Amino acid sequence: RLPEPYTLPLPIPVPARPLRSGPDGDHYDMTIKESTAEILPGYSTRIWGYDGTFPGTYLEARSGTPLIVRQTNLLPVPVATHLHGGIAPPSQDGFPTDLLYPRGLAHLATGHAGHGAHGGHAVMHDPHAQVSIHHRTYAFPMRQRAATLWYHDHRMDFTGAQVWKGLAGLCVVRDDEDDALPLPRGDRDIPLLMCDRAFDADGQLAYPAIDPTLLGAPGMAESIMGGAQGDVILVNGAPWPYLEVDAARYRLRLVNGSNARRYELRLDGPADSEFTQIGGDGGLLPAPVRHATLRISPAERFDVVVDFSRYPAGSTATLVNLASTGGAGQVMRFHITRRATDDSAIPDRLSDIPELTPGGAHRQLVFSRNGSQWQINGKPFNPAVPHLRPAFGTTEHWTVLSVERHPFHLHGAFFQVLGRDSAGPGPYDAGWKDTVELAPGAEIHLAVRFDAYRGRYLAHCHNLEHEDMAMMATLQVG
Ligand code: C2O
Ligand code: CU
Repeated sequence: RLPEPYTLPLPIPVPARPLRSGPDGDHYDMTIKESTAEILPGYSTRIWGYDGTFPGTYLEARSGTPLIVRQTNLLPVPVATHLHGGIAPPSQDGFPTDLLYPRGLAHLATGHAGHGAHGGHAVMHDPHAQVSIHHRTYAFPMRQRAATLWYHDHRMDFTGAQVWKGLAGLCVVRDDEDDALPLPRGDRDIPLLMCDRAFDADGQLAYPAIDPTLLGAPGMAESIMGGAQGDVILVNGAPWPYLEVDAARYRLRLVNGSNARRYELRLDGPADSEFTQIGGDGGLLPAPVRHATLRISPAERFDVVVDFSRYPAGSTATLVNLASTGGAGQVMRFHITRRATDDSAIPDRLSDIPELTPGGAHRQLVFSRNGSQWQINGKPFNPAVPHLRPAFGTTEHWTVLSVERHPFHLHGAFFQVLGRDSAGPGPYDAGWKDTVELAPGAEIHLAVRFDAYRGRYLAHCHNLEHEDMAMMATLQVG
């Protein structure tokens, strides 16, 4: 039985304490394991989690201070962790074949044998895969600006199923520029990881994988060709929660961690729905942007300020999802409890962002479908053979065209939206982006510049089921 919406409190993520901090960075130890969680009251749900929690351990990073995470894999399957929005060298980027095997599957890792028996059927054809057994350490340089990131599993062919089981967590990067602004802070700065899930009659997470062990041949039921969706919206792991707020400004860091669901959020209550967007995937915007509703496709982040002082004390404001009906049309509720002092403000100028002007190659990426395969430029994912070879250090013009709706995501660099079709950027395209929604039958123009690291990265659809059905392109940068 599902709980009544807005009866459970919102879990507020508490940043993990580093194991130690040294000149080389902040160190964390993370065990990836099976565990149980009481997501629906009265049910014990089996999850896979970073440190056995869902969402996984909340990491707070400081710009300029490397984030060093030692992971131990106690799951029955391999994993590959990607810090989404992190600018890391290719070896640290969670490429889908850079698998961390559990001890019990060491035999599969070493020989790269057992075609079809360990899932990632192309792993054996990927001579560059960096495979680890039992544990490995990721070092993220964090030479990047403040932003709301998240991390999740990226195992080839099984990302959708493994993220659904719980392998996702938040990572907020802070820096001096962002800290110096008078934006809401402390307990008025709250990350909200939204995702949808379906549960079976026993309160277990329901995902229609062909082989539920996730160790056999990859594949999923025809019913989720378009992406897996559920009728329960979880925010920070709780179904349709509520949060008590002061009548004051709050900074809400919205993250769409859903496999395939897009949202159009509106705040229903005794004041007009208004979100003041201050940041996007890659941190602060140049200037705030007001939205009455917020469209968020999978993996996008919107950093917004909501002014609850516009609501009378004692009232409620409900975050609803206009893109769906039923359970998925409801998200969470705010209880505006009392008047309170508020010294926060939203400056008219937030940050300086250099505008990218393409001078290099013009590339086209066409997102399309061929039977049960999702493709980019007519080809399925192949980890070993680069699809595209973007230049290093020059700004390229990428035109991405799609037949159906897809969230386009790029690893290794943030980009800027130059325009959609023959118009300028859309209302949700401001600032540095790493994920954008491609509308059906439309094209989008992007300015893309890789200037941090050379090597192997990815561009892909962030509908995780499309991704698992091959909608990824291997990039060889530089
Ligand atoms: Cu959020 Cu390639 O992933
Ligand atoms: Cu897609």
